[in-house]
Amino acid sequence: MPLNECQIIKLPKISDPRGNLTFIEGGAHIPFEIKRVYYLYDVPGGAERGAHGHRELRQLIVAVSGSFDVILNDGKKKKNFHLNNPSEGLLVCPMIWRDITNFSSGSVCFVLASKEYDEEDYYRDYASFLIDAVKQ
Ligand code: TYD
Repeated sequence: MPLNECQIIKLPKISDPRGNLTFIEGGAHIPFEIKRVYYLYDVPGGAERGAHGHRELRQLIVAVSGSFDVILNDGKKKKNFHLNNPSEGLLVCPMIWRDITNFSSGSVCFVLASKEYDEEDYYRDYASFLIDAVKQ
């Protein structure tokens, strides 16, 4: 799937002097039903996550706290997204390699996913990913 279909989505934000609130409904604010949620936290300085692609999985990545960079790569082009806003999410399509780097201290990378965990859906090897990605 082309890189330009991966984009930042603005999420609903209820601003309030007591603190802001953002909500996400599957199928309404994002174009898939939510089957799984996971989050990365306590990421040590300099650590890198991701380094894989997915065959079918669709995801929304949100920096619910702090900031980090998500580098998306469709095998032809790369695009860097700096996420630092809890009321925005990055939509990641299938057949995109992602690297997640530059985590700020205390940051939380919150991910909504369209499927349950399935190791068979992963490309862990970049060369194998590239072979299939360039066919798209
Ligand atoms: P991985 O997806 O490689 O993490 P990241 O993309 O954040 O760097 O997953 C790391 C490990 O956690 C791997 O052994 C698979 C396991 N895991 C699950 O068991 N369930 C899940 O939902 C996820 C995302 C990972």
